[in-house]
Amino acid sequence: RSVQSAVSRTSSHLTRRGYATEPVPERKVAILGAAGGIGQPLSLLMKLNPLVSTLSLYDIAGTPGVAADVSHINSRSEVTGYAGEEELGKALEGADVVIIPAGVPRKPGMTRDDLFNINAGIVKSLATAISKYCPHALVNMISNPVNSTVPIAAEVFKKAGTYDEKRLFGVTTLDVVRAKTFYAGKAKVPVAEVNVPVVGGHAGVTILPLFSQATPQANLDDDVIKALTTRTQDGGTEVVTAKAGKGSATLSMAYAGAIFADACLKGLNGVPDVIECSYVQSNLISELPFFASKVRIGKNGVEEILGLGSLSDFEQQGLENLKAELKSSIEKGIKFASQ
Ligand code: NAD
Ligand code: LMR
Repeated sequence: RSVQSAVSRTSSHLTRRGYATEPVPERKVAILGAAGGIGQPLSLLMKLNPLVSTLSLYDIAGTPGVAADVSHINSRSEVTGYAGEEELGKALEGADVVIIPAGVPRKPGMTRDDLFNINAGIVKSLATAISKYCPHALVNMISNPVNSTVPIAAEVFKKAGTYDEKRLFGVTTLDVVRAKTFYAGKAKVPVAEVNVPVVGGHAGVTILPLFSQATPQANLDDDVIKALTTRTQDGGTEVVTAKAGKGSATLSMAYAGAIFADACLKGLNGVPDVIECSYVQSNLISELPFFASKVRIGKNGVEEILGLGSLSDFEQQGLENLKAELKSSIEKGIKFASQ
């Protein structure tokens, strides 16, 4: 009888992964901005992720409703909604991964940098809370302009004495998702098999898809590669224009954010060879302090920054062209955070 109760105690505490005998660790994921356009579908997707044991949904308002709704889904995680600044500490305590889609989205005619004045302050205050309540969490920054919000968070963490560059990620997965989709359409290859690295940053020309490294390989003409590059760089604007004042990408972003958070959870759990593109502190690729490239994610966050590989002349030119804008966005973020 005692053996039986020990077994049932164990299986009630541990969820098992398929036929594997290894238990899946307990992992808390917090989403800040969870009641928003990205936040709601992202909450749904993270609720479906069996690697999550606690899902913490925070926003300035509206999260109790989102949490009640999502919590009825019969998947592993326990869901709690937290609303208002006074509940932010509880939302963050013990988090392994914090995903931040908080802040205003673009309207037609705006650049991502036009969001800086509002979103920089939001990110600064959320990063301050992270440094206090869960300084070891892996932070997935979605809020725009990502090229500046990641440096802002880094500065806030430095000031608080909690900065670990391995644990801060700008989420650029949507650029990869778009590059894969657009490439598959032109190359006439199954989209599920496509891989395309996207490097640089997350705004306009700073988004640099490396179609010369795309797999499966296809012999696309130079003008097709150029058009694919421009479409990937303008993918966000394509959605903003189509939504005509009702915001920017939310559903595809939630999908991309869920993929990236899943990679972080797998890395934390010790799954080998977890590789995604991300905008991170990096001095390997260029003279700029932050750069997006392929990174290996492991138990401590960024385990390895992978090089760019060989570039076509067109990509080499794109790399040179993006540096000035990326540099000024990074400097703008650092200056803001140090004020
Ligand atoms: P949204 O307006 O629909 O939702 C934003 C949410 O953030 C709202 O629910 C709002 O209440 C909340 N919020 C505002 N201040 C907050 C605070 N201090 N703490 C917690 N929550 C707060 O916007 P959205 O469409 O979900 O977009 C959110 C952000 O994501 C925007 O900045 C957008 O530009 C960015 N974005 C980034 C990518 C990317 O690829 N990295 C893609 C799409 C959108
Ligand atoms: C995107 O790429 O869709 C996001 O950065 C949102 C935007 O403003 O384009």
